[in-house]
Amino acid sequence: MSAIADVYPELGLRITEGSLELRGLTDDDLAALGALAQRGVHPPEEMPFYHPWTDAPTEQIPLGMAQYHWGRRAGFSPAAWSLDLGVWVDGELVGSQGFGTTDYLVMRTGETGSWLGIEHQGRGIGTRMRRAMCAFLFDHLDAVEITSGAFCDNPASIAVSHKVGYVDNGITRKKRRENEVAEHLSLRLTPDALVRGDPIEVTGLEPLRRVIGLD
Ligand SMILES: CC(C)(COP(=O)(O)OP(=O)(O)OC[C@H]1O[C@@H](n2cnc3c(N)ncnc32)[C@H](O)[C@@H]1OP(=O)(O)O)[C@@H](O)C(=O)NCCC(=O)NCCS
Repeated sequence: MSAIADVYPELGLRITEGSLELRGLTDDDLAALGALAQRGVHPPEEMPFYHPWTDAPTEQIPLGMAQYHWGRRAGFSPAAWSLDLGVWVDGELVGSQGFGTTDYLVMRTGETGSWLGIEHQGRGIGTRMRRAMCAFLFDHLDAVEITSGAFCDNPASIAVSHKVGYVDNGITRKKRRENEVAEHLSLRLTPDALVRGDPIEVTGLEPLRRVIGLD
């Protein structure tokens, strides 16, 4: 019998590190992720995201969340793809860890991005999930570089990047909200610099490698 995970391998991918699990989000998981985001991701006066999706009226956040994930899936191809995984700790959905890339077969690089529900922040989960994703990309998807970026007024995100081993790669000015500009720090991680967490276990790898053209 065919399952959607056979068609879209992100949905069969599972990366575990102890009590932490990263895996593809079902449509019902997307509804739960939207509800988590509705409860808050950051104080309203801050804006950590390039696209200010958390500024939307609260009642519109779950649909916007689902549409974002469906849009990324709709555009999936070996030339441009992303992994947008849910993050669970002890079985509770706490946030999302992503990776996006273009021309991966040539470039072997891409950008990580992540968020946690506000009630789950500041307890080391952000560091664990980024370490797990980076170990997965280097060890199982043959990446040679991973980039990230954060506005300079986002110390938690920058601290996580540094703890994982990323090094600073330049400051630029970026548009944030309408009529707002903010300084932005680019970061870069190479395999030898990765500060690893506990070992990860991966299931569902081979179909993903095939669909992105690695095998
Ligand atoms: C960024 C984010 C994913 C990090 O996850 P987290 O679980 O909160 O991070 P951790 O607890 O693993 O680590 C946070 C680190 O930031 C540090 N930190 C937090 N606030 C800080 C501040 N104001 N100044 C200096 N350091 C700070 C913490 O001390 C900690 O470092 P330490 O363990 O060395 O003490 C999470 O905070 C989040 O979702 N924020 C809102 C969305 C967001 O900013 N996404 C990233 C967009 S680029």
